[in-house]
Amino acid sequence: MIVCVCNNISDREIRQAVDLGLSTMAELRQDLGVATCCGKCASCAKQVLAAHLDSKVQVTELSFRNAQAA
Ligand code: FES
Repeated sequence: MIVCVCNNISDREIRQAVDLGLSTMAELRQDLGVATCCGKCASCAKQVLAAHLDSKVQVTELSFRNAQAA
């Protein structure tokens, strides 16, 4: 789904950017241009960012626990 209509940025692109190391709205603004025009996408972009960061933390924690158990 398109999150930022002004800059044609999808939720998938935001998640890919997080996978490449971005972790803040400031970084999304700078690198993708999210929320740099009308700003109406900011809250949705924050939700996509936060949800994907949370999912990455859970995977890291599970990986750590599995590594300890081995
Ligand atoms: S929809 Fe993202 S800046 Fe307008």
